Amino acid sequence: MTQHRKSIHGEWSSRLAFILAATGSAVGLGNIWKFPYITGENGGGAFVLVYLLCIALIGIPIMMAEILLGRRGRQSPINTMESLAEEAGRTPHWRLLGWAGVLGGFLILSYYSVIAGWALAYVVQTADGLFTGASAERVKTIFDDLVTNPGRLLFWHTLFMTMTMTVVARGVQSGLEQAVRFLMPTLFVLLVILVGYSMNTGAFAQGLDFLFTPDFHRLSWNSVLIAMGHAFFTLSLGMGAIMVYGSYLPKDASITQASFYIAGADTLVALMAGMVIFPIVFSNNLEPGAGPGLIFQTLPIAFGQMWGGAFFGTLFFVLLVFAAWTSSISLIEPAVAWLVENHSVSRVKASVVSGFVTWLVGVGTVLSFNKWSEVTFFGKTFFDLLDYITANIMLPLGGLAIAIFVAWLMKKRTAREELALPKGPGYSLWYFLIRYVSPAAVLIVFLNVIGVFKLG
Ligand code: PHE
Repeated sequence: MTQHRKSIHGEWSSRLAFILAATGSAVGLGNIWKFPYITGENGGGAFVLVYLLCIALIGIPIMMAEILLGRRGRQSPINTMESLAEEAGRTPHWRLLGWAGVLGGFLILSYYSVIAGWALAYVVQTADGLFTGASAERVKTIFDDLVTNPGRLLFWHTLFMTMTMTVVARGVQSGLEQAVRFLMPTLFVLLVILVGYSMNTGAFAQGLDFLFTPDFHRLSWNSVLIAMGHAFFTLSLGMGAIMVYGSYLPKDASITQASFYIAGADTLVALMAGMVIFPIVFSNNLEPGAGPGLIFQTLPIAFGQMWGGAFFGTLFFVLLVFAAWTSSISLIEPAVAWLVENHSVSRVKASVVSGFVTWLVGVGTVLSFNKWSEVTFFGKTFFDLLDYITANIMLPLGGLAIAIFVAWLMKKRTAREELALPKGPGYSLWYFLIRYVSPAAVLIVFLNVIGVFKLG
């Protein structure tokens, strides 16, 4: 057995360290910023239901597959895919899957960092008491003032990229564990406090109804694609982030158990964010489909009214920045790990180079909210297009390729060995989902959006 490679980048100190890091990757802007706004844009309940189904039937099985590939390969996703393909007697061109992931990571991080920059700006604005007693209109004006100012956006984007690359340069293991161990419980407590606030807005029931009562008339195939794309995005799947974290996972850790923890924590945070936002939206007569600015136009209203709002608000945005930080690190780690492996550059150099490229692409997103807001491709701004292509096309395609590789091309024994599941219903269910259900679901959604194939 040649398979017990070691990663040259080191290993997590424990199973828990991996779970914390992977949860740090999964829980981020996707849960708190993106989930509420796309739920608002796509009509609520039915969209949420599809999203939850995608997490359970596609997300968790593919997460297990992606982690097992990483742990088996023990290298950057590019080299992992190449060596596992060779081990399975397949073409080494499977490395292209790793390349697609690296590209996806760059593109996602380029706009992710701009949005994380908004959160940084909000830390300062909330601490300054800017929102204290502010009306909904005033809160909206403050948001518009920020995003229409390219200089300010660029400043915060640059700061966030610098923060990310500093951690990546030092190696992702050090520091991340402590950060997440403290961050997750605090974020959770804060969300509980905010749910408490929302319960008293007078529109809590309306908010829950919007989130959890499905109305299928409001669901288009494009919405189904967005829900599915978001299941990949929020779980960090399909681009090698979870694969590269899996490559630092000790041999004795249970991949199945870890996947359930990560997906469970991630889903809980997203649903709580929804339960906080929508009652605020409805009690202030705001528009659920307001778009990417939704949380920045709603939460400050709550912080402006509640007792200790400046304190809780500042803490909230600090935690949001941390959550984004632990995700952004994993977006760039596949690229950095590859540069270190194949070009024997130092982590520092690899981080500077890849960070700079990402930062540069991010300038496009900065401008798409102001100077280029009228410049559209297929009716989408630069930011919208980048987000649509990466989350809804690249990640599901990456996930599809992972499912096909693990369930159809790799030796069955290899997968079973890595998962270390006893033969039984659990293993059979996973195998059935990854072999048939996940790939078929991704294909059906794609085909319907393309309109080749209509299911009524
Ligand atoms: N999962 C992260 C979030 O929800 C985003 C992310 C996507 C991170 C893909 C890594 C890879 O914010």
